[in-house]
Amino acid sequence: MEGMKSFYLETFGCQMNVHDSEKVIGTLMERGYRQVDTADDASLVLYNTCSIRDKAEQKVFNRLQHHKKNNGKQVIGVLGCVAQQEGEKIFDRAPHVSLVVGSASYTKLPELLVQIEQGGRRVTGLSLDTDETFDTPLTRRDNPYRAFLTIIEGCDKNCAYCVVPYTRGPERSRTSQSVLDETKQLAAAGYTEIVLLGQNVNSYLDPSARGWRFAQLLRAVGEVDGIRRVRFTTSHPRDFTKDIIDAIDETPSLCNHVHLPVQSGSTRVLEAMQRQYTRDQYMRRIEWMKNARRKITITTDIIVGFPGESEAEFQDTVSLLDAVEYDGLFSFKYSQRPNTPALALDDHVPEEEKGRRLLQLLEHQRTIMIRNNANYVGETENVHVEHFNSATGQWVGKTTQHKTVNFTHTRGPGAALEGSYLDVLVTRSGVASLVGEAVAVN
Ligand code: SAH
Ligand code: SF4
Ligand code: F3S
Repeated sequence: MEGMKSFYLETFGCQMNVHDSEKVIGTLMERGYRQVDTADDASLVLYNTCSIRDKAEQKVFNRLQHHKKNNGKQVIGVLGCVAQQEGEKIFDRAPHVSLVVGSASYTKLPELLVQIEQGGRRVTGLSLDTDETFDTPLTRRDNPYRAFLTIIEGCDKNCAYCVVPYTRGPERSRTSQSVLDETKQLAAAGYTEIVLLGQNVNSYLDPSARGWRFAQLLRAVGEVDGIRRVRFTTSHPRDFTKDIIDAIDETPSLCNHVHLPVQSGSTRVLEAMQRQYTRDQYMRRIEWMKNARRKITITTDIIVGFPGESEAEFQDTVSLLDAVEYDGLFSFKYSQRPNTPALALDDHVPEEEKGRRLLQLLEHQRTIMIRNNANYVGETENVHVEHFNSATGQWVGKTTQHKTVNFTHTRGPGAALEGSYLDVLVTRSGVASLVGEAVAVN
């Protein structure tokens, strides 16, 4: 079927999903599929979905609505977390969908597509016990300098609000040798920055005889020739150990930025969330970072309006922002999710109240970031260049601390600075970024 051979893929959700899509794209291209930019031009339309909050899930069903007029010419498929969560129920809600495949089953995609070509109407791949999905040599990475690399899949944490343990299954780690082999291949292919991925990278445990923990893996990846920067996400505070800070201190290629989602500043709420740490235990980890030799930036995720969160408990979260002085914050209104333990809780915070808390939190964080960023003015920062912004006439890149820098350079667009590392003198600062000019190279 010649008509089947073009595909459109839209990705929602976290970096794990973005990376899964890179694997899906490579898998399809190897089978002769061609990627196109608009859904209407494709014979195969795929959505790699996210279910973390209700809004994310609704977005997918809105997209599917758009294909309702489909008169059998297109094959519509749902991949990822909504696929895993809803399974065959998707066919009932969106009857024009013929393919539902969870994230652990992307390797089966080609054979599932063959089933559809042969007349299959409702084809699924929902097994979660596939462990050969960490990597494939077929991966088509979107960025030629910075590569995502999966080290651990799934999650065993069971936070009361979270769907991930149901959509991604139990935790499974990849062998350190396999991680190092892929890192070396990436370095040989010209990548200089590696982002180690997992829902909870800190609980990494090498299944091979080496038995490495996360900090050991981190050091080894950071020592691979040609790798200049290593990032990792996401960290869970409970499993975040001091040896990770030591590794950062002693290995220059490990970026001095840690994303450590706290979710709440109230120990009572943390307990209700089943996060397995108290505010004090979280703060101890923050102290390790503040006492490190290198200056480590810290970012976080926070949920406001978890069931039963009182005004005083919310204020504990506000005060935590001051105690930590975060360099970045992602905050969300609590959203009720299927299958999760928090469904059993009552005492829901009204929607408007959640909105008010979210705004107050963001406003508070704004002042902290303005203050933090002002400290960089006059400093020279090494920047990994990402792209040229023609609207502003500035180049854009990131520091090792994950600060975005917009900077001018005597060379403009077409100068092929993308992927290089440049020293930039910071001349101004804003809420979410720094402004500077490239230091003349001699
Ligand atoms: N594994 C990561 C989080 C992945 S989800 C961790 O443990 O930190 C990313 C963020 O989405 C979470 O940190 C949390 O802040 C938010 N989130 C997850 N479930 C949510 C829900 N039901 N409602 C609102 N926000 C949620
Ligand atoms: Fe979800 Fe908690 Fe697992 Fe993170 S650690 S993915 S928030 S269950
Ligand atoms: Fe969303 Fe699944 Fe990631 S629910 S946040 S895409 S793990």
